[in-house]
Amino acid sequence: MLVSFHQILQDAYKGHYAVGAFNCLSVEHVMGAIKAAETLRSPIILQLAEVQFPCAPIDLMAPVYLEAAAKADVPVAVHLDHGQSLETCVKAIKLGFNSVMFDGANLPFEENVRQTAEIVRIARAAGVDVEAELGKVGDTGFGGGEGTGEADPDVFTDVEESAEFIARTGVDALAIAIGNLHGRYVATPKLNIDRLKEIAQRNNLPLVLHGGSGTSEEDFKSCIHNGISKINVATALQMAVTDAVKKYIEECPGANYIDMKSVIVEATCESVKQHILLFESDGKC
Ligand code: 13P
Repeated sequence: MLVSFHQILQDAYKGHYAVGAFNCLSVEHVMGAIKAAETLRSPIILQLAEVQFPCAPIDLMAPVYLEAAAKADVPVAVHLDHGQSLETCVKAIKLGFNSVMFDGANLPFEENVRQTAEIVRIARAAGVDVEAELGKVGDTGFGGGEGTGEADPDVFTDVEESAEFIARTGVDALAIAIGNLHGRYVATPKLNIDRLKEIAQRNNLPLVLHGGSGTSEEDFKSCIHNGISKINVATALQMAVTDAVKKYIEECPGANYIDMKSVIVEATCESVKQHILLFESDGKC
């Protein structure tokens, strides 16, 4: 069933687990993700980032996400990931997404506050929840480039700024930078859990970890047990599917498109299941 982002995150926040937010770029991705969530009785977030629109147009994907969410027998939220402008957030809201992320992390603090607060005001009127970002999550591209695993403390989320940002914008969830990067890591990153603890203690709302792919199990556990309630995963799903499709084509002389679609559904399902178990959101609904 389609459930609000706010509700899903509040349940995770109070229950000390994290909900996986999976960037799904095809019908097969969506089918696999929902199958995993239903199998493990876990809430889940389906999300699509603006940079992914060229390969997964939002107006085509929105009905797929919404219908899959409505039919699922676990709670599902449908979320715009990394909206880069007010216009994109409004477009997603009009298409039925029940939450949006506005990414103003590259803006100066005051401008990030101003634009985020404006989007919160508009989204609230439509009954839609909002995630924002403060501090810079390094970007190697979802599924694309490679991160070194080296964290730059200068771009970490500042504790006092996080409190001011939350109070002035009224967001439902905040994405923070603690050494996490989008994309593939060459070396496993070491997240700054102390900074996470300080941000979580200073604020009273669900925090979000972007760049989930490639994070160590130890860091995932520390994040979940210290205030992270949503973890974004994109690259890991793409890698799981690519590996499975390569293997299928190499090993199966009669390889065909219809069977390959099932391979994609199953590879997605397995990867999402692994993440759900790591995030401890299984058995929660
Ligand atoms: P990864 O591609 O590193 O998993 O990051 C996903 C993400 O944070 C989407 O917003």
